[in-house]
Amino acid sequence: MSPPFKALSITEHKQKTPLTLIDFEEPSLAEGEILIENAAVAQNPVDWKQIDYDFNIPSLPWVVGGDVAGTVYKLGPGVTGFKVGDRVISFAERKTARHSAFQTYTVGSVDRTVNLPTSYTFEEGSTIPLAYVTAGAGLEAALGVVLPAPPAALPAPSKGEPFLVWGGSSSVGAFVVQLAKAAGYTVLATASPKNHAYVLSLGASAVFDYHDADVVSKIRAAAGPNLSLVYDSISENGSIEASVASVTAPSGKVAAILPPKPEQSTETVKVVQTGAIRATENAEIGSRVYGILSALLETHTLIPNPVKLIPGGLLGINEGLQLGREHKVSGEKLVYRIADTKF
Ligand SMILES: NC(=O)c1ccc[n+]([C@@H]2O[C@H](COP(=O)([O-])OP(=O)(O)OC[C@H]3O[C@@H](n4cnc5c(N)ncnc54)[C@H](OP(=O)(O)O)[C@@H]3O)[C@@H](O)[C@H]2O)c1
Repeated sequence: MSPPFKALSITEHKQKTPLTLIDFEEPSLAEGEILIENAAVAQNPVDWKQIDYDFNIPSLPWVVGGDVAGTVYKLGPGVTGFKVGDRVISFAERKTARHSAFQTYTVGSVDRTVNLPTSYTFEEGSTIPLAYVTAGAGLEAALGVVLPAPPAALPAPSKGEPFLVWGGSSSVGAFVVQLAKAAGYTVLATASPKNHAYVLSLGASAVFDYHDADVVSKIRAAAGPNLSLVYDSISENGSIEASVASVTAPSGKVAAILPPKPEQSTETVKVVQTGAIRATENAEIGSRVYGILSALLETHTLIPNPVKLIPGGLLGINEGLQLGREHKVSGEKLVYRIADTKF
C-alpha cells in the first residue's frame, strides 16, 4: 500500500517545538516535473539553519529537506526521460513546500533528478544529491576545474598537481575528494584522526588533523610548490584563513562554502564563494555535474556518505535536527526511511 500524503511540517517561524506531520493533497505537476514516492530522505545542515535562522520559509506550514531517494510515482507534462517506477535520487528545489524532501512524496524537477542503479540502496542514494551538486558546482564554477565528462575515462589521467580539501570527512568534502581525484588531482585533505581512514578510502593521498597547530606547515610540506586550488567545505572557525595559508603556488583560489569576508582574500589568493546554486545559475555546469553523476552511479564509482539511519522515519528528523544543531554529525549522513514513520 502506498504511504499517505504527509509532510513533516514547520508551523511557526523559528519553531522550537517538534515539527509535526500534516496531511496534504496530491500535488499537480508542471512541465518537466515528476512526483517521487520517497523511500529515504537525508539531512543537511541547511535544514536546521533554515528553521532556526528563519530564512527561505515564505509561508506556513512549510517543509524543508533537499535530499530525496525513491521511485517515480507520476510523470508531469512533457516528461520523457523517466517512467513510473524508476528508482531515482533528486536534489529537491524547495521552491514550494511540495518541492521539499521531508515528506512522503516530493515534486522533483527532471533537471535535478538522476536514475539510481540497484547497486545503491535508497538510503545510500539519499546521501548524494545536495552535497554532490555543491561539490561539483564549486569545483567547476569557483575553481575552474574541468570535470571529465562521459564518455571520457574516469578518473582522468593524473595531472601530478595537488588539490586541498579542507573538511574531507564532511558530506560535501567527501564528494569534493572523489571528484577532484576523478579530475586527475593528487588530493590532500583535513579531518579528525578518527575519520582519516575514511577520507583515504575516498581517494585522498594524505589526510591531516585540522586540530594540529602545525597543520598548515605540514600540508605545505606535503603539497610541494604547486598547490593553487583549495575547496574549503567548512568555511568557519578559521578554516578559510588556514586554507589561504596552505596555498604554496605563486597565486591560488579557495572555494568557500559559506560567505567569506573580503579581507579573507589576499593579494595572491582569492577566496570565491560557492554553493549548490552555481549548478542552477549556469545550465552548462548544471548539466555537466548531473551528467557525470549518472556516469559515476552507473559504474558504481561514486562512494555515498556513510549512512546513519535515525529511527522513527519522518518523525525521527526532530532528533536529527537537534544532532545537527549540536554539531554531532561526523563523517556520516543522517538518513530517514519513510517506511519507519508511524503515521
Ligand atoms: N552553500 C551551499 O550551497 C551549501 C551546500 C551544502 C553545504 N553547505 C554548508 O557547508 C557546510 C558543510 O556541510 P556538510 O553537509 O558537508 O556538513 P557535515 O557533513 O554535517 O559536516 C560535518 C563534518 O565537518 C567536519 N568539520 C567541522 N569543522 C571542521 C574544521 N574546522 N575543519 C575541518 N573539518 C571540519 C567534521 O569533521 P571531523 O568529524 O572529521 O572533525 C565533520 O565530519 C555547512 O556549513 C553547510 O551549511 C553549503
